[in-house]
Amino acid sequence: MKIENIKVCAFDAYGTCFDINSAAQKLSSEIGEDWLSFSSTWRTVQLEYTWLRSLMKKYVDFWKITEDSLDFAMNVHKIDIKFKNQLLNLYKKLNAYPELSNCLKYLRDKKIKTCILSNGSPALLNQLVDHAKVKNLFDDILSVDEIKVYKPDPKVYEMVTKRYKCIPDEVCFMSSNTWDVVGGGVYGFNTCWVDRFEKEFDKLDYQPNKIIKDLSELSKLF
Ligand code: LAC
Repeated sequence: MKIENIKVCAFDAYGTCFDINSAAQKLSSEIGEDWLSFSSTWRTVQLEYTWLRSLMKKYVDFWKITEDSLDFAMNVHKIDIKFKNQLLNLYKKLNAYPELSNCLKYLRDKKIKTCILSNGSPALLNQLVDHAKVKNLFDDILSVDEIKVYKPDPKVYEMVTKRYKCIPDEVCFMSSNTWDVVGGGVYGFNTCWVDRFEKEFDKLDYQPNKIIKDLSELSKLF
C-alpha cells in the first residue's frame, strides 16, 4: 500500500470501532460467568445469519438479524428471556473503543476522508456514533441496507468507491473481522487488520496489507 495514494479510510463498525461484547458485559452480573461465551454465540450466529440470508436472497435488516440471533443465543445459553430487551437496548449503545475519536481526528488532520462501512442498519449506526460522540468525525456512514446484501458481497465494498468516485487502491479498509478484511482486500482495497485479540487470520487465499493491534497504531501508517 502506498500511503500517499490513500484518499479514504473506511471502517468496519462492529468489533472495529465498537465493542460488541460490551452489551453482555454490562449485564454480566445478571447473566453469570458464561456472559462472554454467550456474547460470542450471539455474534457468531448474527454473522451466520447475514451470510445465509445473502445466499438465500432473503434480506432482512441487521436489527432483525440481531434480535433473531439473540433469541437463538439466549436459548442455547439458557438465559432468562426477561433480559432480552435490556440486551437489545445495550446493543444500541455499545462502547466505542477509546482510541477511535483520536484516530479519526488524526486522519481528518491528514485530509483523508473517513467513513463507516457496515452491515448495521442506518438507524442503528446513527445511534452508535451519536452515543459515542463521533458522528461529526466521520464524513459518511455507509450501510448495506442501501443495497440489501451483506458483507462480503463485493457490491458492499463498491459502495465506498462509488461514494468517493475513487478506485479501490485509493481506499484503506480497517476491520477486526478477518473475513471482512478478506472481502475488502479481494475487492481491491488496501487492508488493515485490527487484530485486537491476537486471533488466527482466515485461510482464504488473502493476507492483509497491514496488521495493527488497535486503531491508535493507524498513525504509524499515515
Ligand atoms: C459490520 C460487521 C461485519 O459492522 O462488523 O459490518
